Amino acid sequence: MAFTLNVNGRAHAIDAEEDTPLLYVLRDELGLNGAKYGCGVGQCGACTVLCDGKSLRSCLVPASALGGREVATLEGLKAPDGTLHPVQRAFLTEQAGQCAYCIPGMVMAAVALLREKPRLTEAEIRSALDANLCRCGSHNRIVRAIQRAAEELAR
Ligand code: FES
Repeated sequence: MAFTLNVNGRAHAIDAEEDTPLLYVLRDELGLNGAKYGCGVGQCGACTVLCDGKSLRSCLVPASALGGREVATLEGLKAPDGTLHPVQRAFLTEQAGQCAYCIPGMVMAAVALLREKPRLTEAEIRSALDANLCRCGSHNRIVRAIQRAAEELAR
């Protein structure tokens, strides 16, 4: 099936099976490897990207269903001059990644979260990211990173 997929501000002509998950198209067709395959069934959050600014588990949604929508991946987060997004900077500053496999999904989920609600309590951050799993147990650093990013974005 041929369709157009908008990713990180660019339109891509895609030819894939109708039910091919967005995650596979991003990684295998477009070479965007930020979103990770964790569980493949919507349970871990490693594959999180943005769709029209909202958090989306890319393993669950066929890419062919996203015509006319705007998908954003970790690769599209930095500014055109290469400046990292405040959430990316905060994750680095707080050393939130250990093996870092979950971090792209965490960063994208955090970006969506802070757009939706810029001021959050620690409990709200933990609750919102409850379904993004980190097998290294870096959750405390991840929460601190999101708090740091929220402070920077509020300035
Ligand atoms: Fe999509 Fe786990 S790979 S939620």
